[in-house]
Amino acid sequence: MKHIDIAAVLQDKTLLGSKVTVCGWVRTARDSAAVAFLELTDGTSFTRLQVVVDKEKLALDPECTKCGASVTATGIVVRAFKGEGAELNAESVTLLGKCPGDYPIQKKRTTLDFLRTIPHLRLRTNTFSAVFRVRSVAAQAIHRYFHAHRFYYVHTPLITASDCEGAGEMFRVTTQPWNAGYESEEEYFREDFFGRKAGLSVSGQLEGEVAAMALGRIYTFGPSFRAENSNTTRHLAEFWHVEPEIAFAQLPEVMEVAEEMIKYVVRAVLEECPAEMDFFERFTEKGLKDKLHNIVESSFAVLEYTDAIELLKKADVKFQFPVEWGCDLQTEHEKYITEQVYKKPVFVINYPKEIKSFYMKQNADGRTVAATDLLVPGIGEIIGGSEREADPDKLLAAMQARGMDLAAYEQYLDLRKFGTAPHGGFGLGFDRFVMYVTGMENIRDVVLFPRTVKNIM
Ligand code: 4AD
Ligand code: MG
Repeated sequence: MKHIDIAAVLQDKTLLGSKVTVCGWVRTARDSAAVAFLELTDGTSFTRLQVVVDKEKLALDPECTKCGASVTATGIVVRAFKGEGAELNAESVTLLGKCPGDYPIQKKRTTLDFLRTIPHLRLRTNTFSAVFRVRSVAAQAIHRYFHAHRFYYVHTPLITASDCEGAGEMFRVTTQPWNAGYESEEEYFREDFFGRKAGLSVSGQLEGEVAAMALGRIYTFGPSFRAENSNTTRHLAEFWHVEPEIAFAQLPEVMEVAEEMIKYVVRAVLEECPAEMDFFERFTEKGLKDKLHNIVESSFAVLEYTDAIELLKKADVKFQFPVEWGCDLQTEHEKYITEQVYKKPVFVINYPKEIKSFYMKQNADGRTVAATDLLVPGIGEIIGGSEREADPDKLLAAMQARGMDLAAYEQYLDLRKFGTAPHGGFGLGFDRFVMYVTGMENIRDVVLFPRTVKNIM
């Protein structure tokens, strides 16, 4: 159907006075005997187009005034009665699809909880359409950032035989049902599609390292899967993961890239989505825009894990999880550090080796690794990264200490055998990042169809 975008009608001043055809869904309608006003959206802009129907000249199908109906309208673009934009003086309005009165997305604001029960319709609200426009702009900006800095985009496998993070949170991939006739698990897996146990990847890092050891700088941007039994506002079973890997980089360079990339993407969102950001400022998080401008303009803090522990011990707060050197930081600790103390993003660095993954570079102190988590107010961890252990003997020792199956990591160990080099990278949880820039408080509200424990709609 030949038509032009509502975004173009609203923004392109040269269209004033000309005749155009638009398509869209009615968001609200005001109808009187003489005149009707239809507010149309076609998804191309946050702002809607007002279509003015002079009912003395034009017979309007009453179905066209129902919230949710889809219509096409032809008319002359004129300056809006109010404000700076444009509106359409209709010459014809045709119904494309009617929308009955039980349409759940009505004008009045409903709760996010309710909208979560209708994931196929909730995108039609202001909130969700704004979230997904911002999500798209942020994703494009990530690709632009890496492309401009000569990172190659690689596609790592989603089906894998190794659990990268070693936390045993893999979903199994199988084509055969359990059959009690098998003598052992090994025999069972041998009969399976791949001839061994396989699962959905929790991270593309290990394959990303393979690529970085040839291409220099690479990144992945795709889904990761975790069978974590965490029913929280920041965990998904399927999330989108951005994972750059940089050859010849040590921890400070890894952090530099993380900070620069975040700033680049935040700037892009502020510039490209002004109407959405105004909306989020009003309805999801007061002070959101100032927060984001501060991100762009100031440097992130850096805090040694050991100092973080001291800071938490001295805190005048009763934490649910006790704090001791060696403990993993819980969300409550992360939130205290970023929200109460620093009030901005904080890189915590050099964690105890026992609580981090086998592949992290072992520091000279013998007890910490060159790891970093980036914590942000409101969410906690959005990035986990590290310099990688490049020394084959130290890597082997770390794997043995964890009782890992060395045979399964032969190729990974080869990277240290043939021209090993310092390198590092990080993983950004893209959905958490979208929460951060939109002010949305539940990760289920920044993905189309969230997959969480006991929930797949
Ligand atoms: O800290 P994580 O587990 O680190 C890795 O996977 C490394 N292999 C990354 C790397 O160095 N290449 O995960 C990285 C980020 C977390 O900081 C978090 O933002 C996000 O991925 N994440 C999740 N997001 C949503 N739901 C989940 N279940 C997540 N698990 C991790
Ligand atoms: Mg982590």
